[in-house]
Amino acid sequence: MEIITRQQKMASVAKKLRRENRVLGFVPTMGALHEGHLSLIQKARQMTDEVIVSIFVNPTQFNEGTDFEAYPRDLTADAEILSPFDVDYIYAPDSSEVYGDEYSTFVTVDDIADKLEGSSRPGHFRGVATIVTILFNTIRPDFAFFGQKDAQQVAVIRRLVRDLRFDTEIIVLPIVREDSGLARSSRNERLSAADRKSAAVIFRALSAANEMAMDGERSAGNITDKVREVIETEPSGSIDYIALVNKESLDPIEKIGKEPALLAVAVRFGDIRLIDNIVLNEEE
Ligand code: PAF
Repeated sequence: MEIITRQQKMASVAKKLRRENRVLGFVPTMGALHEGHLSLIQKARQMTDEVIVSIFVNPTQFNEGTDFEAYPRDLTADAEILSPFDVDYIYAPDSSEVYGDEYSTFVTVDDIADKLEGSSRPGHFRGVATIVTILFNTIRPDFAFFGQKDAQQVAVIRRLVRDLRFDTEIIVLPIVREDSGLARSSRNERLSAADRKSAAVIFRALSAANEMAMDGERSAGNITDKVREVIETEPSGSIDYIALVNKESLDPIEKIGKEPALLAVAVRFGDIRLIDNIVLNEEE
């Protein structure tokens, strides 16, 4: 496993590998690696010849400077976590390497980036779309791997890839959960022990909604009411939003039809805002 910190070196290594007809798999991360990331890396290992993991805490996707500064950074620990996974390259540039002097080009995915997370985190997806564009242009991967946990990020990136004609196939892997059902996230580490336990209510609520849908319930109102009722059994949780939307456009839906419907929630426990989702009506 080689650690590359320079953009030019990463680009030339990737170019050489492509010339040798190696299939490139790319897993973009911000470090603080957990089981969710590892499931992406394992899939990349199965599907591709060369696995490249980027570790870069992207300043342009943070709304508040304090969040950016507080984000955990430990390249040595992350590299150690990756060592059993047969990763070929870690790309860990610093900020000046990615956003050089007078950086001024940003990528905006209209409409879907403004919904759900976009309204509480303005500019977040502009930062995500910009860094993903820069990384894809550096590496030009054949496949890039993302987690369904960040369902809106997936919708934004799919749209970005489609609209800007990136020659990269996006592979999305299921949410990895703790034993309690809580979706794995680097934020879980910052929950108090009590809140971490209470936050399992989110998955109980999503599961109750899924059962309702499987039993034939079609009304978004009834389903989201149920989710609210279950989450409210935990007084320490404060609901930011509960939304039932089209999985691709993220437009709200009133009745579940034939298309898969994304049930997405954001709930705060103390200072920590957690997101989670489940896709209803999806064929396996
Ligand atoms: O999901 C993340 O960790 C980040 O948003 C990503 C895709 C690595 C871009 O910084």
